[in-house]
Amino acid sequence: MALVCVSDYEKKAAEILPKSPWDYYRSGSGDQITLKLNESAFNRLRIRPRVLIDVSRRDTRCNVLGFDLDCPVAIAPTAMQKMAHAEGELATAKGTINTIYTMSTLSTSSIEEVGEAAPDTNKFYQLYIYKDRELTKNLVRRAEKAGFKALVLTVDAPVFGPRRCDIRNKFELPQHLRLANFTDEKLIVQSAGGSGINEYVASQFDPTLNWNDVEWLVRFTKLPVILKGIITHEDARLALQTGCKGIIVSNHGARQLDTVPATIEALPEIVKAIGSQMTVMVDGGIRTGTDIFKALALGAKAVFVGRPVLYGLAVDGQNGVESVLKILQNELDSAMALAGVNKITEINDKFIAHESTFCLSKL
Ligand code: FNR
Ligand code: LAC
Repeated sequence: MALVCVSDYEKKAAEILPKSPWDYYRSGSGDQITLKLNESAFNRLRIRPRVLIDVSRRDTRCNVLGFDLDCPVAIAPTAMQKMAHAEGELATAKGTINTIYTMSTLSTSSIEEVGEAAPDTNKFYQLYIYKDRELTKNLVRRAEKAGFKALVLTVDAPVFGPRRCDIRNKFELPQHLRLANFTDEKLIVQSAGGSGINEYVASQFDPTLNWNDVEWLVRFTKLPVILKGIITHEDARLALQTGCKGIIVSNHGARQLDTVPATIEALPEIVKAIGSQMTVMVDGGIRTGTDIFKALALGAKAVFVGRPVLYGLAVDGQNGVESVLKILQNELDSAMALAGVNKITEINDKFIAHESTFCLSKL
């Protein structure tokens, strides 16, 4: 069967991957209310197309945070990618053509290996702050040295959310794999009876993380800092005062606190609060070109995708990552043509409405 959309890759990846890695990649926390909401919330938004517009000059290219991208679709950081494919993060980084690749701290390829494998890729490094601050500083310096162009500080994970599948599976990294950025006991993810990754995080990550640490990181590195995991306008306003260059509106793929809003639901209040002063991007539940169009219409400058890239990686390595990104770009182009839009910068809130706007009972 030809794989022609992200959900085709999802179904194929489900067939290929062993249970524990597949459950780790696909699942969310708690009752997975927000996991479902991240995708279903897009279905409550309608695109309002305009017609009789010459759309022969369409162009999905854009500039985000100073980077020229073919399309406003970037790759979100997802951990332990060698469970999906033997080449893992190396394949993903090489498959990231003319957009942004964000590498997780919890990767199964090292910072240096990725830097060497994909020298021309726009690489961002996603940072978790460890209790061991010297180790944390060292990760930052290594990313700077390896040619990473920005730091993405994840702010919504002082602990990991209760992912019930991982607990039931007693999730751990397969024996042949390691967290490649570490050389001591931090490279092992083993279960002590529950989810090995949650136990790892509880022992290693710093739960005291606060806004002072953001200001410390901005001072410590020469790279631009982006905050990932902001979901309220209050925190978005606080981000303005830290010197960071942008935020990713995110609920961590619904893997942290269940029943928080879908990111597309939270986006408008954040764009209204800071959108004219800071680059606002969004991730979570983005699976189609119309999802991307809707996020842009609500004010996001770019979207990041997590699971879709893992599905592509699992199915066909670098080629699979490239195919998924191409599918999303082509679907966005189609949405632009049919909505009457030639450029990314023309997409705005006049092209979108909530389903209640069309409530037939009001007639
Ligand atoms: C993630 N995410 C994540 N975020 C982060 O800051 N560091 C990380 O290491 C990871 N790891 C990770 C693994 C897996 C398997 C998933 C599904 C997610 C969250 C990720 O960056 C992003 O916020 C979501 O994946 C976006 O939602 P979608 O696109 O997966 O629906
Ligand atoms: C996760 C971490 C690695 O969501 O961010 O699994």
